[in-house]
Amino acid sequence: MRQAFKKKIDELRNKPDTGSADTAIPSGFDLGHAKFALSAVANIAEGTGVTPLKATAQLAGEIVNVIQVMNKNKEDCLVIAKDITEFIEELQKISGKVQPTSDDGKELLEHVENFKKELQNVLGKLRGIKDRSNGKKLFHASADKDTIQECEKKIQSCIQKFDTRNILSMKVQLSEHLRDINARHDQTQRHTDATLDKIEEATPAIPRIFFGREDLVNEGAHCLATEEQTFLAILGPAGIGKTSLALHITKSQQVKKKFSRIYFLPCEILPDVPAIIFAMLQHLRLQPQQGHSQWEVLNAFFEANKQNVLFIFDNFETAWNTAGSRTNIKNFLEKLAEFSNISMIVTLRGHDGPGYINWHKLGGDSGISSLTLDAAKQIFSAICGKDKDKPEESKKLEDLLRKLDCVPLAVTLMAQRARTSPLDFLIKMWEKEGTSMLKEGRENSVVGWSSS
Ligand SMILES: Nc1ncnc2c1ncn2[C@@H]1O[C@H](COP(=O)(O)OP(=O)(O)O)[C@@H](O)[C@H]1O
Ligand SMILES: [Mg+2]
Repeated sequence: MRQAFKKKIDELRNKPDTGSADTAIPSGFDLGHAKFALSAVANIAEGTGVTPLKATAQLAGEIVNVIQVMNKNKEDCLVIAKDITEFIEELQKISGKVQPTSDDGKELLEHVENFKKELQNVLGKLRGIKDRSNGKKLFHASADKDTIQECEKKIQSCIQKFDTRNILSMKVQLSEHLRDINARHDQTQRHTDATLDKIEEATPAIPRIFFGREDLVNEGAHCLATEEQTFLAILGPAGIGKTSLALHITKSQQVKKKFSRIYFLPCEILPDVPAIIFAMLQHLRLQPQQGHSQWEVLNAFFEANKQNVLFIFDNFETAWNTAGSRTNIKNFLEKLAEFSNISMIVTLRGHDGPGYINWHKLGGDSGISSLTLDAAKQIFSAICGKDKDKPEESKKLEDLLRKLDCVPLAVTLMAQRARTSPLDFLIKMWEKEGTSMLKEGRENSVVGWSSS
């Protein structure tokens, strides 16, 4: 993205100066918006606990002001304006998500302070260029160009050095993914009546980037399609790819052919049996009936309809681990299993499927495992599209992926970071930050990641 922007700027630089005043350039970035964005960050920053962010955003605003009133060198400075604006916006996003007193919060603060110092430097230099009298401008034209380029490089190396774009935001994303379930669960403690809209919102799209699970997809699809009734358990730690696998199994033609209806139940928003039954009634478009319990309505439906139906209970641990609801859940699942036209898939962070049901555990007793190195590499290049043909790059990538234990979530997040940062840098950052990331993961029940 930055490369494309630079190309655009280079094109503009080579165009004859039309004398146009400001600001909008075809890349979608303009100085007016930058000023607006920076003043918004300065306003919000006060409340985030990362106080220096306010002063940093204001400094950046001053730089944009200086650039805006430049005549000759404005276009040369646009990359600086864009970089600092984007980076400050990113810092602000992250600052809203980390605790100011945590290690991450302190690290962020340090980054912001460093960036502020660099901005002060840049502001001084750009002011010097702007304030030069017209006569002297001509004389200094080449030196000014160099100074601007030097500022541009300093800003970029500063961004990359403490690259919050990479590890810190990755940590935030990772912990967000892991906290997601709990947060949604908390919400639904108050709203157990999940509507179809809420179910739809909580149902993930089938991931388009998906590698290394062909055997498991085939195994699951084959069981579902060929056995009269199937109970599939997809077990393993968070981020290992359980939900993605379940969704890909349901995409298989043979599964679609057998089941007239396939319903996804995001159990993180369905904390107990009544909530799950309510969601099933919603899916089946069944209305509650006076004088009858919800279970009776559901039961009557399955007594009368013998078409094959597949239910996917995703994140089943929420209901399963809710205090006091285990026996009810167990009874409920066992009653459902009585209907031979109902098959089920559960995805669950754990080692066993729920209740006395003969679950077929995909991937064997220990649940699904990490990806192979080859599959992890495929994900990486599908996401960041980097040229890994050079032998030394490919070695570095393998090293990084091994450090991530080829866990799909970690590989996915790291590949997104690799779009803007070199592998060397990511490896170094992972070595520095990895342990705390892993610790964070474990606290959220991610098990099975090694830090080696
Ligand atoms: N086989 C795979 N290939 C590519 N990406 C995957 C694969 N499995 C999972 N992912 C990605 O990893 C992330 C976590 O996967 P998910 O299925 O949500 O894990 P879980 O349900 O075990 O927490 C998602 O972004 C998903 O797209
Ligand atoms: Mg999941």
